[in-house]
Amino acid sequence: MAEDLIIVKGSKKDQYEMLFPQIKALLDGETDLIANLANIAAALKEQFNFLWVGFYIVRGNELVLGPFQGPIACTRIKPGKGVCGAAWEQNTIQVVPDVEQFPGHIACSSLSKSEIVLPLSNLSGVWGVLDIDSSEYASFDDEDVCQLKRITSLITFE
Ligand code: SME
Repeated sequence: MAEDLIIVKGSKKDQYEMLFPQIKALLDGETDLIANLANIAAALKEQFNFLWVGFYIVRGNELVLGPFQGPIACTRIKPGKGVCGAAWEQNTIQVVPDVEQFPGHIACSSLSKSEIVLPLSNLSGVWGVLDIDSSEYASFDDEDVCQLKRITSLITFE
């Protein structure tokens, strides 16, 4: 496994294309979920310098904070609450160009301006979400949706 992440400049697509095989290599042969989520969060944060990148994991009837990179965050989210809770409850990707406009948005950091949340599921349903916050408005688009789906598809949790 490579010790250092190779960080590239260029278009968003170019950055993801360079990052994907490196994340794949990081996960290759490692079955521990927490270790893999931690490395994915770190790799995305390092390449894109997002404000916050992390995972929430379904524990009973709540999402509980998992591995993340960035400022401290709220630890528990109820179904349907905030962007994460909506992604979980509806099992749909949420792209929020302006978090102030999202009803019930949970403001963990006042610096967060836009957000994307992807539900993560297996045969039993949604087991967690990937949440990324940006300090700029409208940071996320179809390219992020497509590329982050590809990255999260590498995660196995049975
Ligand atoms: N803003 C999220 C809460 C999690 S933090 O951004 C890390 C939400 O509304 O679900």
